[in-house]
This record gives sequence, structure tokens and C-alpha cells, in this order.
Amino acid sequence: PEPTLRDAYKNYFPIGVAVAPRTLTGPEADLVRQQFSSITPENAMKMGPIHPEENRYFWKDADAIVDFAVQNKIKVRGHTLCWHNQTPRWFFTDADGKQVSREVLLARLKQHINDVMGRYKGKIYAWDVVNEAVPDTGTSLYRKSKFYEIIGEDYIAKAFEYAHEADPGAQLFYNDYNTENASKRDRIYQILKKLKDKKVPIDGVGLQGHWSIYEPTPQELEESINRFASLGLKVQVTELDMSVYPKEHERRARKPTDVSEFTPEMEQKQVAQYKMLFDLFRKHKKTLTGVTFWNLSDKYSWLDNFPVPGRKDHPLLFDENYQPKKAYQSVVTF
Ligand code: G3I
Repeated sequence: PEPTLRDAYKNYFPIGVAVAPRTLTGPEADLVRQQFSSITPENAMKMGPIHPEENRYFWKDADAIVDFAVQNKIKVRGHTLCWHNQTPRWFFTDADGKQVSREVLLARLKQHINDVMGRYKGKIYAWDVVNEAVPDTGTSLYRKSKFYEIIGEDYIAKAFEYAHEADPGAQLFYNDYNTENASKRDRIYQILKKLKDKKVPIDGVGLQGHWSIYEPTPQELEESINRFASLGLKVQVTELDMSVYPKEHERRARKPTDVSEFTPEMEQKQVAQYKMLFDLFRKHKKTLTGVTFWNLSDKYSWLDNFPVPGRKDHPLLFDENYQPKKAYQSVVTF
């Protein structure tokens, strides 16, 4: 029989999976326990879900995920402390609905990071501290988010400093997608270099890895790994999945591919692409310290609603019945 993911990679890096409360019981939980050595809450620790009002936290889902990990001796990657998405309105406004000052927003950010990291101190080995701060196109280094507009570019450094104070033992990551795009890669690099030059406590960079059967090329990916590693940073693949649709083509054509079934051609490409990725990951095991899949099986993926609502995608290693796909074999046998 084939080895499990966690066994096949035990001398390389933890293999993780994004989970929701529903993943912690029944057949999904069995598959997580059997195959994975790390979990990440898909949504439960984001600002909106965990901190809906200034003086109210909602810990239930995040607690359940961390308890599951502790009981099963699985690592936890925390996600995410500072992001422009899924952040509640109250964070940026005062009681009269007016935008808060830099000082107030920094104080709120510090309190939030301290409370969330503090609660799970010692139980979460790595955190995505700042998520997706760089725009996809253009020449600007910084996305024009509320954090950027109200605080200024040093909100990133501040978030890392607060995180390091809250749990000095946790590894701290900057996390982003499209990291193989040459321009975005370069702008992310510039930000990370500034942080390193200023001795900001950052340990690594997360390549989200929302890829497809057509992208990235091994050259593009290797360039990203080497470039970020040259700053002395660890690299983790934090949200791996592989759409069977041609994203770039769809974007340019502004027209979605109109199929939903998993064709033999898609399957063949997916097997080859997953094999390429994991061959490369193993080759870089000194730098690459973790790989996390964004969802467990093709039964549920956020890609089923993105970019085309209701169109089924087939991005993961397990099918809708939780059975290993052919791509699974190409990842665990080497
Ligand atoms: O929980 C509510 C529910 O109460 C409500 O009835 C329902 C109706 O829309 O929405 C539910 O919330 C949804 C949530 O997922 C939980 O299912 C949100 O609408 C939906 O926007 C949210 O999507 C998440 C998305 O981040 C938000 O931007 C996806 O599950 C999650 O997979 C996705 O993950 C992100 C990473 O955090 C960062 N990188 C990109 C990645 C994919 O977008």
C-alpha cells in the first residue's frame, strides 16, 4: 500500500490542510488524522470571525480546531492576524462611524494580535501575521488597504513586532498569492528586504500556492523560492490547491471555461503538475519548511465558488468521496 502523506514527508516537512469546524468530526476528521501533520483554520482565526466586535471575541471554532490538533498531536499554523479582507468595519471606525486615527488603529491591532496569539501561545508554531499586502499589478509596493491608508507603510513592521511580543516562540510569516508573477514577486521581495534591513522579527514567507494545472512553471516557482530564501527567510507553501481551469486565459478572455467534469486530460495534467511541484519542494527541503493544502478533498473547495460561482473545480489530492486521486500517488511515491 502507498504511504500516507505525513509518512512520505516525515523527513521533509509537515503536510498541512485547511480546516473548518465540520472537518473535525466523521470521515473528514479520520482523513485529516491519517494523512496530515499540520492544520490551519480556513476562516476561524480571521479578524471578522474571531473578533466581531471591539469587546467581544468568538473563540469557539478556533478553540475546537486547536483542541483537535493538541489531542491528535498535529501542528497548527495560525491564519491570519492582519488582512484587508474579512476584517470587521468596527476595526476602522469610532462610535460615531468616523475613521479612527493612526494611534487608535495601531492600539487595536496590537490588542487584537496580543489577545489572539496570547490565547494559543505555545500551541501555534507559525502564524501568517500579515496577509496579501501587495497589489497584483502596477508599481506600488503597498495595497491601498485601510491599514495602509490610516497607519502608513509601517503597519506591516508594527504587526510583526506586536506578534513577536505576544508569542516570542512562534515563527512569523508574511503570506501572499501570485508570488510567481515577476513583478509582484519583486515588489514582495522589496518589502521583505526592508523588513529584514530594519531587523523586524520575521521568519518566513508563505507562498499561498493557488495554482492551476497550467501554472506556475518550475522555473518561476524555483525563482521565487531562491529569491526569498536569499533574504535568510524560510519559505512555506501555505494554501496549495490546483485549479483544473486556465485562470490566466479566463481572465484575459473574461469568459469562464464552461465545463464541470474532471476530464481525463485535466487529470493527466494535474498528475504531472503535482509531481513537478513536490519534486521541487523536496529538492528545496532546507528552505521549504511546510506545505499546506487549502481544503481537504474535492467535495468542498473555495474554488467551487471562485472565480465562477457554482462551477465545480477538482483541485485537491482526494476526490469527492475522500479517495486518493492519481495525483496523490505521484506525490507520495518518489
Ligand atoms: O460564515 C458565513 C455564513 O454565516 C454565511 O451564511 C455565508 C453566506 O455567504 O457566508 C459565510 O462566510 C463565508 C466564509 O467563507 C465561510 O464559509 C464567506 O461569505 C466567504 O467569503 C468566506 O470565504 C473565504 C475567503 O477566504 C474569504 O475571503 C474562504 O472560505 C476561504 O477559503 C478563503 O481563504 C483565502 C485565504 O484566507 C487567504 N488567501 C486566499 C484564500 C482563498 O480566497
